Amino acid sequence: MGSAEAGVTSLAVSVVLEGLRRLEYRGYDSAGVAVLAGGSVHVRKKAGKLANLAALVKAEPLPAAAVGIGHTRWATHGAPTDVNAHPHQADDGRLAVIHNGIIENDSLLRSRLAARGHVFRSETDSEVAAALLADNYRSLDGDRAGDGPLAAAMRRTCQELEGSFTILAVHADHPGLIVAARRDSPLVVGLGDGENFLGSDVSGFIDFTRRAVELGQDQVVTLTADAVVITDFSGRPAVGNEFTVEWEAAAATKDGHSSFMAKEIHEQPEAVRRTLSGRLGSDGAVSLGELGISDKALARIQKIVIVACGTASYGGQIAKYALERWCRIPVEVDLAHEFRYRSPLVDDRTLVIAISQSGETMDTLMAVRYAREQGATVLAICNTVGATIPREADGVLYTHAGPEVAVASTKAFLTQVTATLLLALYLAQMRGSGDPTEISAAARELAGIPGRVQSVLAGAGQIEALAASMADVTSVLFIGRHVGHPVAMEGALKLKELAYIHAEGFAAGELKHGPIALIEPGQAVVVIMPSPAASPVLHAKMMSTIQEIKARGGRVIAVGEEGDAATTADALLTVPASSPLLAPLLTAIPLQLFAASLAGAKGLDIDQPRNLAKSVTVE
Ligand code: G6P
Repeated sequence: MGSAEAGVTSLAVSVVLEGLRRLEYRGYDSAGVAVLAGGSVHVRKKAGKLANLAALVKAEPLPAAAVGIGHTRWATHGAPTDVNAHPHQADDGRLAVIHNGIIENDSLLRSRLAARGHVFRSETDSEVAAALLADNYRSLDGDRAGDGPLAAAMRRTCQELEGSFTILAVHADHPGLIVAARRDSPLVVGLGDGENFLGSDVSGFIDFTRRAVELGQDQVVTLTADAVVITDFSGRPAVGNEFTVEWEAAAATKDGHSSFMAKEIHEQPEAVRRTLSGRLGSDGAVSLGELGISDKALARIQKIVIVACGTASYGGQIAKYALERWCRIPVEVDLAHEFRYRSPLVDDRTLVIAISQSGETMDTLMAVRYAREQGATVLAICNTVGATIPREADGVLYTHAGPEVAVASTKAFLTQVTATLLLALYLAQMRGSGDPTEISAAARELAGIPGRVQSVLAGAGQIEALAASMADVTSVLFIGRHVGHPVAMEGALKLKELAYIHAEGFAAGELKHGPIALIEPGQAVVVIMPSPAASPVLHAKMMSTIQEIKARGGRVIAVGEEGDAATTADALLTVPASSPLLAPLLTAIPLQLFAASLAGAKGLDIDQPRNLAKSVTVE
């Protein structure tokens, strides 16, 4: 998996490298570029981040070229080494191929091609695609669709490949030409003036053109400087869906912050404000006219299933509490990759909510497709306008958080929670469910949340100091009750992702049923406190849990309202008071700051933690 980027223009190398920089969120295990010049293919590739490739290209410059392809990799088959980096070459080095996705029949094809004499250099499934394309290119007789032998060979290759893929290929026999194909993995064409582009998403070419063409499933595209020809895998002409990219290219600057993540954490008040903007009236009435799903359809809903991965799934778990309490509709939350494999009970009266920052996560996309096949109505909650998941869903509620660059999700998460709360309020108001007094109070409170988020951020200094004193911890537990439980899991995930510290989040009530065995003197436990005023019963139980931890020598870091638990916790990270269902919008923030600060104290790369990719486009 990774990102694909290509251009047919006079500045191929710089265009491709700049495109890859914008697409590095898709993976940064290695990077590579190939250009067509002087009748041959020239390749540079390097393990590690894009900067390593840029240094290599500087040390060993590539010739000026009009055609180039490039890739950043998130390793699936084979370690992140120079050899396993893309592009992969075949046909005596005359063909170069980049691939995103996973070729599922790769061992079968590998043995077949090896038997035919192909010598493989890498351990990747992608090299198998390159070898198969070369083999088909050599053996195909004639070009029946009229777009050239490379396109014909690509179609044959795609018919033989199983799995998901975006493949781009250039061949020394065809200067000025790129052939690409897609199944499941994303690929977008950029239409320029005397130059054309391909990218895993539009950000790869946004600096050059805003005219884009979305390719359909199972299509092959042939790109030259002034023509774009699309067919299906059988060679029948196809037409892509042209659109104009509306949004501004991400201003990829840290604005004086030490990392993109720090910047994005501090953008949260504004991001939440944007999610609410135009949707929450001063009278507390929610209007979601843009949803794309009629009130009539929503009124029929008998069940909600939320599908998402990673941080977005914790957003979904928080949403369950509000949706069930206010809308009185049963809600299940499923990790997207588990959903379709358990024969879920989904029908035409089910609303499936797919939460995804990128809108490209393959696990979530597959869950969306499965849900639609079962007749469910699918609503996407997404940050990236025009991404695949919102395009394939029946309706979409955009979070409008703005571009999120850091791998670990912060403002996207907070705006996902905000959007689901808006949705819950909307459904409750429309269906007349829940307690109207509580619902209108929550709507009014939600309007004031950006200011309270700001006040939590004002306490960042205290959290940084705490984290600095804990740089050598090896294990941190996170516990919470009610909505504090998913917040605890999200806090643990952040710490794992960013600081590489073993962390576990669980329901506080479970502590006594097993995990308490982990508590020994000095064990750090982060406790998400319920509000003493709004949730007195849960608060009292949490105070007992704290006592149980303290009695065994544990070190308690509480996240709670001013003055709360101050006498028993070793540290208190304060948040303003709130009603229970809105509390995650505040309690999640100290945990973001804690993880980022600890990673900073350990000298780690906060924006691009090891082994991760921001957008995981393989299943
Ligand atoms: C990856 C990222 C996570 C993210 C998850 C879901 O695993 O590392 O930070 O939460 O994908 O991404 P999505 O774009 O679907 O919200």
